[in-house]
Amino acid sequence: MSRIHEALKKAEEQRSAEHEMHIEPPLASAPEVVPDPISMPVAAVPPLADERDRRTVSAAMPSFGTGLSVESLLSRCVAGHWTPDRKTMLFFNGDEQGYGTEEFRTLRSRLYQLRDRLPLKKVLVTSALPKEGKSFVAANLAQVLVQQQGRRTLLIDGDLRGARLHNALGTESSPGLTEYLLGEADEFAILQRGPMDNLFFIPCGRKVTSPAELVANGRLKTLLNRLEPLFDWMVLDSPPAVPVSDAGLLANYCDGVLMVVRSNSTPFDMARKARQEFSGKQLVGVVLNGIDQGNSYSQYYYDAYGKPNGKNEQR
Ligand SMILES: Nc1ncnc2c1ncn2[C@@H]1O[C@H](COP(=O)(O)OP(=O)(O)OP(=O)(O)O)[C@@H](O)[C@H]1O
Ligand SMILES: [Mg+2]
Repeated sequence: MSRIHEALKKAEEQRSAEHEMHIEPPLASAPEVVPDPISMPVAAVPPLADERDRRTVSAAMPSFGTGLSVESLLSRCVAGHWTPDRKTMLFFNGDEQGYGTEEFRTLRSRLYQLRDRLPLKKVLVTSALPKEGKSFVAANLAQVLVQQQGRRTLLIDGDLRGARLHNALGTESSPGLTEYLLGEADEFAILQRGPMDNLFFIPCGRKVTSPAELVANGRLKTLLNRLEPLFDWMVLDSPPAVPVSDAGLLANYCDGVLMVVRSNSTPFDMARKARQEFSGKQLVGVVLNGIDQGNSYSQYYYDAYGKPNGKNEQR
């Protein structure tokens, strides 16, 4: 009996030892969903800004830190409460066919054609003399550029002497460029985001006694370099090129210069002198501003096709 008892006891011990050693495999975790490369859609067009925003952009912008999206960076901007001057800001009227808008669309096409051939993102708008329409052209160029969905544009008031763009937009002039150049504010403290999708604005900032020295102090280059990856276009307004040197300094940091000439106003020798100021720079075009309505090609076009005066609507 005792041997039988011992055998039973041994068998029992063996079973319980086997049971203890039997380890159930853990439940398999849910398989990772690996996209099937064949069934994934192929992107036919380059991504627009909205789509790029969802991606992290730390590689392109190491200066802002890692793992940040464009949208999270832009959420640091100042919320601009703009009340635009509708006479100057042609595209804020909601009238896509308003007078002058077609010319700005043509200008936009020309810039895109140029961009196919050369690097072009930072455009300086200048002219020989005061009151020739630099700010008007800069403001409307920036607006027409954001009419194309997903094209993010930064408008910068680089006229530290007679800044007026903040009036056109109906917003604060400060803090702005001068505060950044003086080292008193960072880029997001001066960057305004207004009601028009994808249009951003840096005003001139407070008045300073030595604007040319400030523009040349090296911080403008840093600012443009840091912000460049966030935008598709950067449009800089400037003071007149003949009386002061600022526009020439600003041009050093831009990819191209757009020259404004006022019809029946800018003297030929002044236009030529301004051109010489930018002799080493890329002149991307000349805007003939303020031409007679009767001479405007788009006026002719609209008359012929019945817009916007409605005379020929039956055609
Ligand atoms: N094509 C245009 N149609 C209507 N108004 C215009 C046009 N061009 C300029 N203006 C107006 O003329 C005035 C002078 O234009 P703007 O301020 O753009 O010139 P500017 O060259 O920037 O002058 P400044 O050298 O003083 O900065 C503004 O009131 C502007 O709204
Ligand atoms: Mg101006």
